[in-house]
Formats: sequence, structure tokens, C-alpha cells
Amino acid sequence: MIFRQLFDHTSSTYTYLLASRRGGEALIIDPVLERVDRYLKLIEELDLKLVKAVDTHLHADHITGLGALRDHTKCITVMGEQSGVDVVSMRVSDGDRLGIEGISLGVIYTPGHTDDSYSFTMTDRVFTGDTLLIRGTGRTDFQNGDARQQYESIFNRLMKLPDETLVFPAHDYKGDTVSTIAEERAHNPRLRVASVEEYVALMAGLKLPDPKMMDVAVPANMRQGLHQADVARRGWAVTAQAARAMLGRPEVTLIDLREKAERERHGCIPGALHAPYPDLAENIGAGGVLHELAVATGKRLVFFCAFGERSAMAVQAAQDSGIAGACHIEGGMRAWKSA
Ligand SMILES: [Fe+2]
Repeated sequence: MIFRQLFDHTSSTYTYLLASRRGGEALIIDPVLERVDRYLKLIEELDLKLVKAVDTHLHADHITGLGALRDHTKCITVMGEQSGVDVVSMRVSDGDRLGIEGISLGVIYTPGHTDDSYSFTMTDRVFTGDTLLIRGTGRTDFQNGDARQQYESIFNRLMKLPDETLVFPAHDYKGDTVSTIAEERAHNPRLRVASVEEYVALMAGLKLPDPKMMDVAVPANMRQGLHQADVARRGWAVTAQAARAMLGRPEVTLIDLREKAERERHGCIPGALHAPYPDLAENIGAGGVLHELAVATGKRLVFFCAFGERSAMAVQAAQDSGIAGACHIEGGMRAWKSA
């Protein structure tokens, strides 16, 4: 396995790059905008293909690298379902699996630091975001933070993981890089409380100043979504209403770019072909199944996904490979459902 812990000095953020092998698919957790060039270089040096960029929560102390990485690599951006729909292209919920080639992360909803905080598990480790830090815990005094929820997340979720589980947090201000669940249970001063009330009182007494970057970072991090308007201006988008009218028409093929778990959770459009976004380059290039389908039958390819972001990138890729009729459903499955 390839595992890299990268550090941003300005915000003391840890970013994690994961892949199962050289030359394979990669996933990055909590990238920082100012460090994107460094990540891209490392990804290239290790011959990796970045397919997913994940934020554990909406950060207040740095601007996320999610949008820039998507623009450079066409990767899928991922956050929890509580994060705004305009921010990312895929959202996960408690109990989901988040996968790339050779790696499957468990998804645990661990609110408290923010209401959209998630932790991600692998067999021997957990990425705790700002929920559990090394000898500390993330503050709970803004962004819908809630000390009571954080207590539950830590004691009833994270502390239930095996003792030897390695803990990799999103930040460290003292230079520590990794801990374990047992070590934090024994030595984390914030966890030496007898009750949830005691924890709430402890967190309320911290009186921390706001993060320096907060006024800049939070609004910027809420606007990371792809600008689908550009695709629409070129005539490559249809509304969900218009797409409904296309259902069953022989000259149209609807293509669902979402993953299996998203289809199971949020439903499918009848008759749509399933072609997950990570395989798009292969499917849409000359000789690929979607390319051949469009060329051989003259059918119009209509892509859709969860919110319209992956499908907007797919339209661009289809157009680039000479499939002129390709378009996408603006707003994705979410717009389809409200239509
Ligand atoms: Fe945070």
C-alpha cells in the first residue's frame, strides 16, 4: 500500500494520500489549496491516478484543495451528506463504504466539531478529521459544533474501534503524527471526564479565539462546486423536466455515472445504462463502449450523476472525444427527484 502523510505548516493540517499500488487509483483526504501543486507532483511521481478527493468536514482554518484537484485531475470530490450540495460531486453517509481500486474505507458519521464531520476507517487505522486529535479534540464552538454530539462520536463510535487502531487526525500543532485508540483513551486529557455533562462543561470553558482564516476559508469552502453554467451555455445541458420527456425515446440513452451504493440509496432512472464515472475515460475514448454506442447507433448520450458535477465533466470528455450530441442533466438526480 502507498500511504503518505503530508503536512501544511500554515494551518498545521495533515493530508493523506492513499493508493493500493504504484500505477493505480489514489484517494486524498483533507487536501489544502496552497499544497495542490505538491500533491499533483507526488501523484505524478508515484504514477497514480487521483480518483477521489475527500474532506472530513467543512474546514474553517484553510481553503480546501478539493476544487483545484478536481479541475486538474477530473477526480470526484466527496464529503458527508450534511455538507452543501454545491460543494462536492458525491456525498456519503454513516455506514457507507468509500472505495477506490484495492482500498475500501468505512464511513462513520462523527459530528460534534461540526455537524458535517466524518471519520474514515481502514483495516488498521482511522482518519479522525478534527473529531479526535492526538491528546486533544476539535473545538465545538462554531459551525454547528456540539460538545454533546462530539462526546457521543468519540466515546460511542471511535473508542469502540480496536485498541491498536492507528489514529491519524487532520491536524496536529505539537508535531505528533500518529496515535492509537488505546493511547488516546489512556492519555488524552479531554477524555478524562466522568460524564457527557463534564465534557460539555470542559469544552464550553475553552474560550478559544476564532481561527485566523475563518472569515475567508468558510465562505470559500462553501463554493467549491464545479460551475455547471459553463456547460449549459454551450448547449450541453438539459433540465430534469426536459430529461423526463426523453424517457423511453429510442434515440436517447441515459447514462448513470453514480456508484452502486448511491443508486441503491437514492434510486435509479428506469432504462438508464450504468457506467460509473471512474471508468469514464476508458468508456468514452475511441473503442470504449459508450463511444462505440454513440458512433454505431447515433444515439444521444445523456449523462447524469448525483448533483450534475460528474456528468458535467463527462459531457466535456465526450465532446472532446468527438461525440457531439452528448449532454447532461443539470443538477443530477437531486434535480430529477424534485422534478
Ligand atoms: Fe476543522
